[in-house]
Amino acid sequence: MTADPPVLDVQSLDTLIHTPGGDPLHVLHDVTLAIAAGECLGVVGESGSGKSVLARTVLGVHGRTSRLTHTGRIRLRGEDLLTASARRRAELLGTEVAMVHQDPMTSLNPVVRVAEQVTEALTNRRRLGRRERLRTAVELLAAVDVPDPERRARAYPHELSGGLRQRVGIAAALAGGPALLLADEPTTALDVTVQRTVLDLLDRHRETRGLATLLITHDIGLLYGRARRIAVMYAGRIVETGPTDEVTERPAHPYTAALLRSVPRVTGALRRPLPTIPGTPPDLSRPVPGCPFAPRCERADAGCVVAVPPTVAVGAGHEVACFHPLAREGNGAAGSRTSLPIPGAATGTAAASTSASGTTTTSASATTRKDTP
Ligand SMILES: Nc1ncnc2c1ncn2[C@@H]1O[C@H](COP(=O)(O)OP(=O)(O)OP(=O)(O)O)[C@@H](O)[C@H]1O
Ligand SMILES: [Mg+2]
Repeated sequence: MTADPPVLDVQSLDTLIHTPGGDPLHVLHDVTLAIAAGECLGVVGESGSGKSVLARTVLGVHGRTSRLTHTGRIRLRGEDLLTASARRRAELLGTEVAMVHQDPMTSLNPVVRVAEQVTEALTNRRRLGRRERLRTAVELLAAVDVPDPERRARAYPHELSGGLRQRVGIAAALAGGPALLLADEPTTALDVTVQRTVLDLLDRHRETRGLATLLITHDIGLLYGRARRIAVMYAGRIVETGPTDEVTERPAHPYTAALLRSVPRVTGALRRPLPTIPGTPPDLSRPVPGCPFAPRCERADAGCVVAVPPTVAVGAGHEVACFHPLAREGNGAAGSRTSLPIPGAATGTAAASTSASGTTTTSASATTRKDTP
């Protein structure tokens, strides 16, 4: 049994976005996940599935014109974030929890030199003289393999390539010595070769610093060999979670299987175009009863559009929210239509049984990084 509590422990989290003049948008539903020290959890899902809102909910920041409300629980090293004061959350930001954004140009301030930006988390805590700040920035940049760090520390973000800017973003995130790193599509803006070196860099720091990492991507292929476990999101719900090998070799949810079919294989000739998932992701402003994937699912029946399937175990640490999961022997394409006998199906979501506290609110937080809606 694990002795240490997880660094991040999210239980039965529901998040609503409130925008001026609009109805609240219920974005996250009953999200439960945990990440241990040194572990990487990969979160995958199509655009709009709620991956970034999940990260922002943990971080406690959001856009300037909207605010989030939540039910459920988020614990960071045992401390309840949703009930923490705004002041305490601001303290934790950059020190205990840090974020690497998709496009560093939106997270870095274009008119502030690199040295000041990478040391911001430190100067929030204590005064640093100009020379000490520069020296620390150079160390931080060297630690993320920025060549000629003395020169780069004095540069402005636009003077650096995309790959170097992302390294600066990572250096800034690591500066405060966080326990949890939220990486939201950290390499999407980079070309493939740079992508790999940046992901390798994140892996290295995760291992050496024992960082718990939430790695968000829409590309499930990026997670092979990096994330020990995967959570697959659809319409704001985690529809499948488990060890990466298990989920990718024996997907239980039809959506996961469809995602995997759309990943290019490196072996064999590409004889036909990669299949896409038919239909479109649901419009969250028009919630439907039942399983949100049912309208696009070839296995759905009448029951699937009536009730949301409970999350049930289908293997060791492998859970799925589906009334008709794919057979374990199958690879997704060949699974039988018959439902598996599912242990605990009658009891519903294991996580949900421990649910729910009161409602708390997170509004836009003071940070020099822009919150991209
Ligand atoms: N500030 C906001 N105001 C209103 N709706 C928002 C806001 N931010 C996110 N949403 C909505 O919340 C839902 C989830 O968005 P989110 O950005 O988390 O998706 P995502 O999975 O990160 O997608 P992508 O892969 O495109 O980054 C979407 O329907 C989106 O339109
Ligand atoms: Mg996103």
